[in-house]
Amino acid sequence: MHGCASVTGVVLEAMSSTPDARLRAVMESLVRHLHEFIRESRPTEEEFERGLDFVRRLGQACSAQKNEVVLLSDLLGVSTLVVMLEKERRGGVGSDPALLGPFWRAQSPRCKPGDSIARDARGGEPLEVSGRVLDVEGKPVAGALVDVWQASPVGLYENQDPAQPEHNLRGLFETDAEGRYRFRTVRPAGYPVPTDGPCGELLRAQDRHPWRPAHIHFMISREGYATLVTQVFDNADDAIESDVVFGVTPALAGRFERRGDGALHLEFDFVLRRGERRIPTPPIP
Ligand code: BEZ
Ligand code: FE
Repeated sequence: MHGCASVTGVVLEAMSSTPDARLRAVMESLVRHLHEFIRESRPTEEEFERGLDFVRRLGQACSAQKNEVVLLSDLLGVSTLVVMLEKERRGGVGSDPALLGPFWRAQSPRCKPGDSIARDARGGEPLEVSGRVLDVEGKPVAGALVDVWQASPVGLYENQDPAQPEHNLRGLFETDAEGRYRFRTVRPAGYPVPTDGPCGELLRAQDRHPWRPAHIHFMISREGYATLVTQVFDNADDAIESDVVFGVTPALAGRFERRGDGALHLEFDFVLRRGERRIPTPPIP
């Protein structure tokens, strides 16, 4: 038995013999913070029902094309917080990570240095991207796999847009003996996150815009190094200071520079720390 003041303690006690120590700790923390949140925000029963219904609709909005649960975590800044804390836990070294996002696909087409990942004849502004992959001592990491994916000039990923060819704007490159990678592409456009589900309702209710600044995603991996999942942003994009999913850090703001020959270039180096190579499971199969 218990009253309003003691229910939290009674719940914590009920979970206290959870055999898995990590599960015990995480659930205790969740219950403490969740009860504190309820005490602070004091929802009416009607508000609570609306909140529960929002969670139900989040699940129902998930499909083979969309993961609304991941999107909510992104919009609340939780996905970014998790990757930042992971960097901090590992000593704060290496390039800044950024959230994976929902559009990564395993099995990007293998490419040779300098290949174009633009497989769509409809064009766009040509962009060359190059740089090096280094270790924390500044030495080149040869043989690293650089998996890149990006939105098209109209702001859609190939797996959202039936008009684009399979694997458009995706490619898997390998760094050379000096740790260099380079590829040709077209300038990505910024895009709004999907707003046709409960997350879109929330953004509208909060009077928030849905835009991400233009960016290129990178996943860089090599045996003996922790896989780096990150994004490089176009610092000339209007949304650079207000990414709806909070992925931009100062170090990830890239400069898309026009060189003497008129071509647009992005030069960007990455730093890998030692650790375990792990390849995530695609958020959407
Ligand atoms: C992306 O960067 O691809 C992304 C991240 C979060 C939500 C939607 C898209
Ligand atoms: Fe993206």
